[in-house]
Amino acid sequence: MPTPLYERQIDSILCSKVFYFKEIGSTNQIAQKYLEEGNMVGFVIVAEKQTAGYGQRGVYWESPQGGLWCSLAIKPELELNLLGLVPILSVVGVAEALRRFNVYTTLKWPNDLLIKQNLKKLGGILVEGKITQFSLNYLIIGIGLNINNRNKQYSRSLSENITSTFEELSQEINLDSLLMRIIQQIEQQFELIKNQGAQAIISAWKKEDNILGMEVIIETPKTRYKGKAVDISLNGHLILETSDGNTVTLSNGTVKFS
Ligand code: BTN
Repeated sequence: MPTPLYERQIDSILCSKVFYFKEIGSTNQIAQKYLEEGNMVGFVIVAEKQTAGYGQRGVYWESPQGGLWCSLAIKPELELNLLGLVPILSVVGVAEALRRFNVYTTLKWPNDLLIKQNLKKLGGILVEGKITQFSLNYLIIGIGLNINNRNKQYSRSLSENITSTFEELSQEINLDSLLMRIIQQIEQQFELIKNQGAQAIISAWKKEDNILGMEVIIETPKTRYKGKAVDISLNGHLILETSDGNTVTLSNGTVKFS
């Protein structure tokens, strides 16, 4: 197992220890290793750089120096039927945290954060987990955000569609302060879902700037839908009104703008 540069205790119920690494393959993968081999839960893995970061559907995720690449390895008190809402509550927490640093985002269902002004991708979230015998062993919330990294650090094909907060604001953000805020905000969202249920999380998502009302194309492994994103259901599914007047409910897919 790779050794961290250093580690420290933090004041959080959800994850009380942070392990800082210089360069590792993927924070989600190391989090999983620590969970499986170290017999503990409730910690964060952060890396300055990732060499094998991955996103939705296993797609390679470029993670150069300057971005926030981290994974929260947690075991929240959460009914299993609400697990599908974890990506939704996580993006809300991250958007709230970014707002404290004057970064305003638009949430692109299910788990992307775009810069509100130009809809360029700022980051995304990848939730993985393990359930055995109808009980939750752990969740890994992987968060990738382009913060102090510059567009020129990216391969050309990516850089047209992505941006970083530095590119937008010409100002660096302290990565550790941002991480602490994210942990705090995600913790609050878990409290909200525990005390008030799914509806409170869906309302919180809807209060953020988001893609509802926009004309979109949604690609799923099997089909491509075109229409207007009109709502999000209680289980976090997107409701799309297609041009022929039909309504489609999607549990996952990639949203593109038409
Ligand atoms: C997406 O596809 O938009 C989600 C990307 C999630 C990337 C983050 S970076 C930190 C963590 N480690 C990984 O390998 N992936 C996630």
